[in-house]
Amino acid sequence: MSLKSIELLALMALIMLLTAWAEQKTKNVSESDKLIYQKVEDVLSRMTFEEKIGQMSQKVVNKIDEKIKQDIRDGKIGSILVTEKSFLTASVKNELQKIAIEESRMGIPIIFGHDVINGFKTIFPISLAQSCTWDTALVKECAAIAAKEASAFGIDWTFAPMVDVSRDARWGRIAECFGEDTYLNESFCAASVKGFQGNNVADEDRLVSCLKHFVGYGNALGGRDYQYTDISDRSMYEVYLPPYKAGVDAGALTVMSAFNDINGVPATANKKLLTSVLKEKWGFPGFVVSDWDAVEQLLNHGYAADSIDAAVKSFNAGVDMEMKSGIAYQLKPDYISAKVINDAVRRLLYVKLKKGLFNKPYTDESRASREVLTAEHRQMARKTAAESMVLLENKNQTLPIKNRSLTVAVVGSFAKEQNIMGWWKSFGDEKDVITTFQGLKNNAPSKVNVVDKITTLTDIIIACVGEEFDTFGEAHSRSDINLPGNQSDWIKQLKKYGKPIVTVVFNGRPLVLTPEKENSDALLLAWHPGTEGGNALADVIYGVKNPSGKLTTSFPSHSGHIPVFYNARNSGRPQSNTYIKELPTPLYPFGYGLSYTSFSYSDLKIISSQIDINGIVKVSAKITNTGNLAGTEVVQLYVRDLVGSTTRPIKELKGFKRLYLKAGETQEVKFDLPASELAVLNQDFEPIVEKGTFKIWIAANSIEGLEGSFEIK
Ligand code: BGC
Repeated sequence: MSLKSIELLALMALIMLLTAWAEQKTKNVSESDKLIYQKVEDVLSRMTFEEKIGQMSQKVVNKIDEKIKQDIRDGKIGSILVTEKSFLTASVKNELQKIAIEESRMGIPIIFGHDVINGFKTIFPISLAQSCTWDTALVKECAAIAAKEASAFGIDWTFAPMVDVSRDARWGRIAECFGEDTYLNESFCAASVKGFQGNNVADEDRLVSCLKHFVGYGNALGGRDYQYTDISDRSMYEVYLPPYKAGVDAGALTVMSAFNDINGVPATANKKLLTSVLKEKWGFPGFVVSDWDAVEQLLNHGYAADSIDAAVKSFNAGVDMEMKSGIAYQLKPDYISAKVINDAVRRLLYVKLKKGLFNKPYTDESRASREVLTAEHRQMARKTAAESMVLLENKNQTLPIKNRSLTVAVVGSFAKEQNIMGWWKSFGDEKDVITTFQGLKNNAPSKVNVVDKITTLTDIIIACVGEEFDTFGEAHSRSDINLPGNQSDWIKQLKKYGKPIVTVVFNGRPLVLTPEKENSDALLLAWHPGTEGGNALADVIYGVKNPSGKLTTSFPSHSGHIPVFYNARNSGRPQSNTYIKELPTPLYPFGYGLSYTSFSYSDLKIISSQIDINGIVKVSAKITNTGNLAGTEVVQLYVRDLVGSTTRPIKELKGFKRLYLKAGETQEVKFDLPASELAVLNQDFEPIVEKGTFKIWIAANSIEGLEGSFEIK
C-alpha cells in the first residue's frame, strides 16, 4: 500500500471514530446540543496540538500588556481568571476578547472567570449564613442577581457554588458551604446553580457555574486548610459526593477539582473520582478545572516527579483546564494521548458554545451602569441578610426594640466596621456597606436615640463583636473558635453598667459562644451580612423583621468537642459518649433558632405508617403561632433508620418547610417522603431501600420535635 492510501485509511478511521463519538454523545441530547456537538467536532478537527493546550490553560490576568495580547493572538489562553476588582470592565473584556476572536488563528472566544461567591457588587451574606434562611428560592435569587451584576462587567463564569460539606468549624472555608448537612447542601447547590445559570446559560445576564472543590475538601485533617483527607468510601458516597451530584443534575457546566489528597490520591489526579464517578457514572458533560496551582502542587504531594508528570497525571485523571501555572504549555503530543487532549477540548468547547460565547463573545458596555448595585438588588441583600440572622438568646424579650423610648449605645469593634462582606467580597466596596451604627441610626423609630458611646443615659447596649474577614475563609483556620481577642471579656465588663446587653456577632463560622450566652440578654448572629448588613440588623433589632433564621451547623460548647454534628452514627455505648465530666452536647444544635414569637407543634399524623419499598410516607403536624406577633417557622423533617445493613445516623434531615403564621394562627404542615429517599447504599454504593422500622420527627430543630414511627414492609 502506498503512503497516500495509508494516510487516507488513517483519515477515514479518524472520521469514523469522531462520528461514532459524536453519535454516542448526541444519543440522548437535545436538538440544540446536537448542533453544539457538531460545531465542537468542526472546531476541534481544525485545531493544532498547541491550540488545544492553549484552550486547556487558564491564566490569571489583572492588567493588559503586550505579552498577554500576544499570548491571546497565539491561541495560548483558553480562559482568563480575574482576581483584581480594579481591572475588569466590560470594555477591557471586549478589548481582550476582540484579539481572541479577530487575531488568533482559530478565533475561539476566551471564557472570563472570577470568584462571584456571595454577590458581585451587591454583596449578600456569606453562603453559610444564606443557608440559615432555609430558603432555596431566596438563595437562587441571590445567585441570579450576582450573575446579572458580574456578567455586566464581562464575567462569564463563576467559581461557585462551593458545596464541601464541612463538620469542622476550625476550617476557615466552612463559611463558603451551606452547612454540615448533605441534604441541605444538595438543596442549596441545585438552587444556586439554577440561579447562576438560569434557564438558558447563554442569556447575557447569566454565568456558568462551577461546583467546587471536588471532593472531600471540607474534611481537611484537623480543620487545617489544604490538609489531606482520609475519607471512607461510605462517607464519600453518603456525605461528600451527593451535593455534587445534585449540582450536576441541576445542569452545572463546570466542576473544580480540590486541593486535597484523598486516601492517598490527590483530588487533582484522582481518576476514580473525576473520570469514573463524575464523568462516566454521572454523565457530566462539562469540563473540570483544577484549583489554583493544584496541578503543580502534585509535586509537593509527592505524586508527580516533575511538572510534566504533574500535568500528564492531572489531565489523564480528568482535569480539562489547568488554573494559573501554565504548566500545560510544556506538554508535547507524545507525552499524552490525543484521546485525553481531545476529550478535554471537546468539553471546553462545549461549555463555551453552551454559554453562547461563539455567537455573542462581547459584553454590552452599557449594562453595568444600569444593572449593578441597584435599589432592587440592595433590597434583596437586605432581606437575605435579615433572614439569615439567627437569634440564639432573647432573655426577658430584650428584643425587639419597639415602642419604647430608649437611648441605644451601639459599641464594639464591629459597630462601625464596613468590612462585613466575608472573605470573598468580589467587586464589593466597603464604601457601599451600611454599618450597624448607620443602619440602627438611620432606621431608628422616633422614640429611639442611637449613640456610639455608653453614657449614664444609655438604656440598652448593642455590643458588636466578631471575626474579621481574614480570620476565616481560605487558609484561615483557627484552633480555638472562641470570639477572637478579648471580646468575651469586654462583653463581661459591660455588665457593670447594669443595662441589658444585646450581643451581635459577625462571624464566618460556628463559634463557641458559651460566655456570650451567659453574659448577654440577647444574642444575635449577624454573620458577615454583606452590603446591607446594617439595614438588615435594624430590621431585626427594631422588629420590622421577625427573625426566622435557623442554624445549619452545630455550635459546639467547647472547641475541643469538634467535630460536632447532628447526624453522627451511634456508638455501642451511647451513654458513655462523653468527656470526663463533660458532655459533647452542642451549645446550640443544628436547626436551632428563636423568633420574637413562639410556636407549638401538635397532632403528628403518620398517614401511611406502613408502606412498601415503592411507597410514600405521608406525615403531617399542626404548627401554631402561640405568641403575639406574626412570624416564620422553619419546620424540619428528620428520620432514623433503626436497623440497617449498615449503621445509620441517629437523625437525618429529609425535608424542611418555611411556614408564615399570623399571631394565633395554626397551619397543618405536610411532608411526602418517598421510600426511595430512605435508601441506603449497598456494598457497591448503589441505593437500596431496606425493610424495617424508622423513627420520624417533625421538629423545630435537630434535638426536639414530635416523634412517631413507620415501617417499610
Ligand atoms: C480557591 C478556589 C478559587 C480559586 C480561584 C483557589 O485558591 O481554592 O476556591 O475559586 O482560588 O480564585
